Amino acid sequence: MPTPTVLARLQEMVPTISVGMLTADLMSLGGDLRLLEQSGVGLVHFDVMDGCFVPSMTFGPPLIKGMKTPLLKDVHLMVQEPLEKVAEYVAAGADMVTVHVESSRHIHRVLQLLGKMANANDPQAGIARGIALNPGTPVEAIEPLLEEVDMVFLLAINPGWGGQKFLASTQRRIGQVKELAGRLNRPILIGVDGGITRDNIVPVARMGEDIIVTGSAVFDGKDPAGNARFMLNTIKG
Ligand code: DX5
Ligand code: ZN
Repeated sequence: MPTPTVLARLQEMVPTISVGMLTADLMSLGGDLRLLEQSGVGLVHFDVMDGCFVPSMTFGPPLIKGMKTPLLKDVHLMVQEPLEKVAEYVAAGADMVTVHVESSRHIHRVLQLLGKMANANDPQAGIARGIALNPGTPVEAIEPLLEEVDMVFLLAINPGWGGQKFLASTQRRIGQVKELAGRLNRPILIGVDGGITRDNIVPVARMGEDIIVTGSAVFDGKDPAGNARFMLNTIKG
């Protein structure tokens, strides 16, 4: 039997969480990751920052490649002009690659290029392609791109840092994405990224998105696996 595609695996999993590594304790990353895998988490979210699209800098392909895990690798590229860079993230084992609509003059071309790439973990699995929007970008900006994407990620904070407060405008924007995506004859997954904690996960999940990215609320210095399990159980109802 052929292995399922990344997209098929995602569709089986949603609604679900993608655990952001940005604020993880690097000294205990390996052990925390094993515990997260056991707690039912399916996605690990890598926030790649280049010091240009956003002021902070984080990590690049070597860390993504080096983190051995059966979880799907969800790579969020906050990098300027990703056209020349996406191939190295795919080669590093990204299963999902999300680029920002604001990051390239030729964002459509970036998505087309991603669509032709083979998954380095399994050539048959495909890459799930995502487009992300900063909170100040009108949702209509994705309309011409929808044919080339599998996922739309709405940033519920301004990108660049973990631990910010969830923006209330996100709810309205999710509705707008649903409206646009509903015109297509295939499903598009909707993700929300930033500011989601144990305290607001119930109202945020009710907004109807498929993937909730949560970082600092999971890596709270105490119990990452317990926090992730709580979030998952909460959204699974
Ligand atoms: C911000 C990132 C987010 C964010 C998630 O630029 O895209 O993934 O850090 O972290 P929390 O859950 O801390 O907002
Ligand atoms: Zn992110």
